[in-house]
Amino acid sequence: MTTAGGIEQSYRLVKPQMEALDGLLEELLTADVPCVDEMLKYAGRYSGKRLRPVLIFLIAEMCGGAGEAHVRLGAVVELIHMATLVHDDVLDRATTRRNHDSVNIRWNNKDAILLGDIMFARAIRLLVSIGNMHALDRLTGAVSIICEGEIQQNQLSGDPGVDFDTYRQIIERKTASLYAAGCELAALLAGADEALVQAFDRFGMSLGTAFQIIDDCLDLTGEEDVVGKSLGTDVRNGKMTLPLIHLLSRLDDQERAEIEALIRGDDCSPDDIARVRELLQVHGSVAHALGLARSYVEQSLATLRGLLPPRDFGVVEELAAFVLEREL
Ligand code: FPP
Ligand code: MG
Repeated sequence: MTTAGGIEQSYRLVKPQMEALDGLLEELLTADVPCVDEMLKYAGRYSGKRLRPVLIFLIAEMCGGAGEAHVRLGAVVELIHMATLVHDDVLDRATTRRNHDSVNIRWNNKDAILLGDIMFARAIRLLVSIGNMHALDRLTGAVSIICEGEIQQNQLSGDPGVDFDTYRQIIERKTASLYAAGCELAALLAGADEALVQAFDRFGMSLGTAFQIIDDCLDLTGEEDVVGKSLGTDVRNGKMTLPLIHLLSRLDDQERAEIEALIRGDDCSPDDIARVRELLQVHGSVAHALGLARSYVEQSLATLRGLLPPRDFGVVEELAAFVLEREL
């Protein structure tokens, strides 16, 4: 592979695969029923940075070459990701995604759930066409784990007692498991040896964990027009994320009671969110979470150090840095 040079360079390195992915996704997001066709095309916008397919193609190139199976794998993972977002916005009562109304708002909850099901079914159908039983097993297993993480999160919503270890388990399940599966399969389908396949699996798990920690920080500190989706939803939905776990451990009794009441409650006002933001700032809770995200990124890189030639390692470093620095 050529020398690293920022995230744009990473995309350029796999331009042919990205173009093939675009074509495949366009084909998959169509339907004979006109209203479903419109919904699928609309949900196509949920594919934003395409970070997961880029990772898959880069890993494949490092392990022997990205072929047609990788284009399909990239599309499968991206479709699963998009389907989970369609469902997630229903669960989180979110109204905006990628700077537009979310599917549940543009249409309604019932049709959003069914649309997510269609996308998920199409992803599995495409996965079957790859013809690799391990890939089928790993990715269907990952979807099951994602849903387990979501249920675990829902059952704990409104509970301010959630600790770091429980939070870590939830985000590993709901987010990092898909990264890990995609990275492992990218290496496997390119013919990498077992040690490298396992290293990419662990790399995906740590990077995906860092990705979700950053996502949780952005929910509390980001600007909606930059991030492009509903923010402040975690406090509103009583979801204990890392900055909030850190914050509760730092507050005095009176302030803790105030924030715990917000987490337990059904809703919260813009003033409540502003108050949480103020306390997060005072107690350095977002900085703490960002520090932990950084250590997960370092952990992800440590799994590959020594296993990749320096130029390939540089490409991976650029991508990992992007995950840390992203604002959307
Ligand atoms: C984003 O979390 C959501 C996920 C990582 C997974 C959501 C998964 C489901 C709802 C299960 C879907 C199941 C199938 C079969 C399609 P977030 O709310 O923290 O992220 P956000 O800020 O982007 O909303
Ligand atoms: Mg959400």
